Amino acid sequence: MDAAMMETSLSIPVPPAVANKLLRAQALLGGVGERLNSMEDATKSTHGGETTSDPADSCADNDFGPSVLGTKEYWEDAYQKELETFRDIGDVGEIWFGEESMSRVLRWMDKVKIPENAAILDIGTGNGAFLVELAKHGYSNLTGIDYSPASVELTRNVLQAEDLMDITVKETDFLNCPGELKDFDVCIDKGTFDAISLNPNNTEEGKKLYVQALKDALKDKGFFAVTSCNWTKEQLLDRFSEGFDFVQELPTPSFQFGGKTGNSVTALIFQRLC
Ligand SMILES: C[S@@+](CC[C@H](N)C(=O)[O-])C[C@H]1O[C@@H](n2cnc3c(N)ncnc32)[C@H](O)[C@@H]1O
Repeated sequence: MDAAMMETSLSIPVPPAVANKLLRAQALLGGVGERLNSMEDATKSTHGGETTSDPADSCADNDFGPSVLGTKEYWEDAYQKELETFRDIGDVGEIWFGEESMSRVLRWMDKVKIPENAAILDIGTGNGAFLVELAKHGYSNLTGIDYSPASVELTRNVLQAEDLMDITVKETDFLNCPGELKDFDVCIDKGTFDAISLNPNNTEEGKKLYVQALKDALKDKGFFAVTSCNWTKEQLLDRFSEGFDFVQELPTPSFQFGGKTGNSVTALIFQRLC
């Protein structure tokens, strides 16, 4: 549905900016079931929801099928619209998984005393909202990357509006940037590994490339803070078992639905082994 044409259930036309937000919220909240709030559930699978288990992949996180949310075209289109909205009314757009998803990582960074000059990478920065929060928190060595040119443009616009011009923002495909990203003390991912896991063309390959790219980007003993709506703690532990130590799980809200309890998101901290 075109956002501009979207109407509420009462058939009240809503402005495009509001409609965009509703569409994104609808996408995020579309799936309520065994795993609440999953991105894969949010839109129709391009392969009719079939899973793509790779017998050669021993990890337990192969139970989602591909989705348009795993495509660059989807994100380019989404951020193009958000860029227009930002230019029109100054709204930065979707904060994936809400403000609290940033606050809980920042609280952990405070607790373990990540120094203010630590080199921090936001993988798949989207609208750059996390970069803004990190900078406001005092962090001064920040890099955000995204493979969507519109996301990069939006992030630059958002940072400029916040007068935060010392942050590096690059159009980079995290899965294909050999040697470009290295020596980071902390890598943050909020929803990007989820998106990569849903790529219709290379679901299993993408997950493996992601783990290798993460190892390359982090310093020895560097931290990885991942927030996921698709994968359980156990699945993430399995995927990041080689080359990383599990440090801790950050508490996230849980829901009850149909007599079952599920977490809306999983937030874990890992540390790169030497
Ligand atoms: C769910 S959005 C999350 C955006 C942002 N982290 C946030 O929390 O708002 C997923 C992001 O990952 C980016 N992304 C997906 N695959 C990528 C890749 N291979 N390299 C870089 N960015 C990627 C998308 O463009 C999108 O901005």
